Amino acid sequence: MKLNIVCIPGDGIGPEIVKQAKGALDRVASVYGHEITYKDILMGGASIDVHGVPLTEEAIADAKAADAVLMGSIGGDTTKSPWYKLPPDKRPEAGLLKIRKALNLFANLRPAVLYEELADACPLRGEVRRGGFDMLIMRELTGGLYFGERRTVTENGVRKAVDTLTYSEDEIRRIAVKGFEIARKRRQKVTSVDKANVLDSSRLWRAVVEEVAKDYPDVALEHMLVDNCAMQLVKDPAQFDVILTENMFGDILSDEASMVTGSIGMLASASLNDTKFGLYEPSHGSAPDIAGMDIANPIATILSASMMLRYSFDLDKEADAVDRAVKAVLKEGYRTGDIMSDGCTQVGCSEMGRLIAERIS
Ligand code: IPM
Ligand code: MG
Repeated sequence: MKLNIVCIPGDGIGPEIVKQAKGALDRVASVYGHEITYKDILMGGASIDVHGVPLTEEAIADAKAADAVLMGSIGGDTTKSPWYKLPPDKRPEAGLLKIRKALNLFANLRPAVLYEELADACPLRGEVRRGGFDMLIMRELTGGLYFGERRTVTENGVRKAVDTLTYSEDEIRRIAVKGFEIARKRRQKVTSVDKANVLDSSRLWRAVVEEVAKDYPDVALEHMLVDNCAMQLVKDPAQFDVILTENMFGDILSDEASMVTGSIGMLASASLNDTKFGLYEPSHGSAPDIAGMDIANPIATILSASMMLRYSFDLDKEADAVDRAVKAVLKEGYRTGDIMSDGCTQVGCSEMGRLIAERIS
């Protein structure tokens, strides 16, 4: 099969981790007989430095022409980097929001899994994490507060800022359908998270999710208020299978869920549209403090490449091989610094990538 992939190395540790994910994909291609072409595009700070903007129209066109996009991470130190002196719509994050919208990537899948080998890194008490957990946060990614109208004005000498939260029923329906479809392939449970006791947008969310649920009688649906969900994630994470939620709630809850696993450096994500196209990136950020030191954990990016094989190319066997290789390396006791524990062997970013690639068979 021919795989036409656009890469966004981005900022901070992005280029290092993308390089290792490419190594894993190259190994898959040689073992399973596929042909991959890569094209790198600039986004975030890397694009600002060259073009003055975080994402150009040419870069968007390149991404659209690909089968899938593999991304590292974007952004820098918000207190020190000159990128954050620019107006908000010229900063690195604006590039990410822009590409999500331009490619219509409305469904963001963020798995949060407790790896058996890394259970000691989980900050939860033994009895809470016993048995492990494996949830998937399905976050709506192109609507809500992050894409609503916003402005800052001064009225009678008083500054006032306004952000608007809008959802149409169509936007809610399409993400709900994705959530139920994925739940069907997992443990058949959807927890829809909202703030329906206060917000109109949440009341519509709940009503539309109820309508969609009628087509999935085999999937159990429950509703949960977002503040309660934040609490339940640390109280009893094993209760969750698919968490279906809007943009901002998903942004916040997915960070919480990833931290609860104790190994954010392990968590992949996929952002999908209505076709097979997707953008795949680690759930963590660009870690500018350790950029270029060859100590970053490339596993989340490698697992994002695995999600790409699965969701954009339907290459389940190949994706399984990547996931197995990651587990094997962990079992053998290799760790990057962020997941290091007693008795294990600490390795750097490129060595971890090499070890994983070598085990893909
Ligand atoms: C994320 C990030 C982005 C978001 C930022 C960088 C705009 O936090 O992918 O979760 O909020 O969506
Ligand atoms: Mg976030």
